[in-house]
Amino acid sequence: MANLLVTGGVGFIGANFVHYWLRRHPDDAMVVLDALTYAGNLASLDPVRSNPGLSFVQGDIRTPHLAESLLRDRGITIVVHFAAESHVDRSIAGPDPFLETNVLGTHELLKAARQVWLEEGRGSSACRFHHISSDEVYGSLDLADPAFTEESPYRPSSPYAASKAASDHLVRAYQRTYGLPASITNCSNNYGPYQFPEKLIPLTIVRALEGQPIPLYGDGMQVRDWLYVEDHCQAIERVLAPEHTGQTYNVGGQTEQTNIDVVQLISRILDEAFESNPGLASRFPRSPAGRRGAASLITYVPDRAGHDRRYAMNTHKIEHEAGFSTAESFESGLQRTLNWYLEQEKWWRGVMDGRYREWMRNQYGNVVSF
Ligand code: NAD
Ligand code: DAU
Repeated sequence: MANLLVTGGVGFIGANFVHYWLRRHPDDAMVVLDALTYAGNLASLDPVRSNPGLSFVQGDIRTPHLAESLLRDRGITIVVHFAAESHVDRSIAGPDPFLETNVLGTHELLKAARQVWLEEGRGSSACRFHHISSDEVYGSLDLADPAFTEESPYRPSSPYAASKAASDHLVRAYQRTYGLPASITNCSNNYGPYQFPEKLIPLTIVRALEGQPIPLYGDGMQVRDWLYVEDHCQAIERVLAPEHTGQTYNVGGQTEQTNIDVVQLISRILDEAFESNPGLASRFPRSPAGRRGAASLITYVPDRAGHDRRYAMNTHKIEHEAGFSTAESFESGLQRTLNWYLEQEKWWRGVMDGRYREWMRNQYGNVVSF
């Protein structure tokens, strides 16, 4: 039996990880620590709320000694660290919270693990600090470049990516200098249930349902590698096996897609859903899906500043050393995601509160009406 501390466990990937882990490790105890920023919604834990092993602490990872008390008092042996400011556009508009949470917050957690596990000697060979990071730390690829490996140099482009790169460096520094048992996964773009509708895929779905313009940055030909979130959870579970302590792994879906192709595929799946289920047109009367087509909403807008052209992940290391392979294809994963957003209208309407609307208005001016 393990005692886990999951930071950011009501955000998108964190919540999916909590569901995944409790389903597969029902005897483990888990504390979720989350500040409940705009991106964190307690409703995302509704399906597992009654689990006796799960507890939730609302708190900020930057708070001195908070994580330290949790590690000590709850006998935590594994920290899975998701908490972060995660949206690139927000980091361009205002980098400060990214440095504060992603760099200084991660450092608070590292100090806590060092203090409790190493200085006070409460750790064991089973302890682990697992840090969730991003492919964005490696920068941008040209179309002909080989995919990023774990040896690729760090060349972050955005304040978000730079903050994630800095946090990776801190984790490695604590590992090497103090002997902290740590590991890192650098992951490509995730999609699936519970993702806040500011990221490309849920934004496209929600806007297509609402009949709102779907903004595509620049020429829409940027390439991302998409990974279904449950496959990411599986990768983390594999890396948490004791033999992977001290390692870094790239995680990806081997699904490189241009943004325009992603948006068009979502539009096609939505059109088909509306054609086969007439009830959807009454639920979402402003949506053009199934009539003039969801793709009619695609609107080219000015490009994101410093926009990375392409990300691609070489995942040989995690496949060969940890046995990782994806279960979901892009089309089946998108279908599952779309079904989830159709069923969970209450969830996405709930998270899109006033703060979100105000931010969207600043970003896109009058094209936003919710
Ligand atoms: P998210 O924005 O959906 O969720 C972040 C969570 O962290 C929220 O619940 C928020 O309340 C919490 N949080 C933020 N600041 C906090 C603080 N100071 N103290 C405590 N909690 C705080 O993010 P996500 O998309 O689930 O990403 C999770 C992690 O995975 C991040 O570290 C991100 O950098 C990384 N990542 C994300 C992706 C992706 O495609 N979403 C890909 C690769 C890596
Ligand atoms: O690659 C991993 C990263 O993926 C994670 O580390 C980040 O936390 C996560 O936010 C994500 O970053 P991206 O910037 O790639 O994701 P986003 O969904 O914001 O954008 C995906 C692509 O779509 C990107 O090229 C920008 C473009 N885009 C995005 C939005 C929100 C648009 O064209 N229009 C949009 O409205």
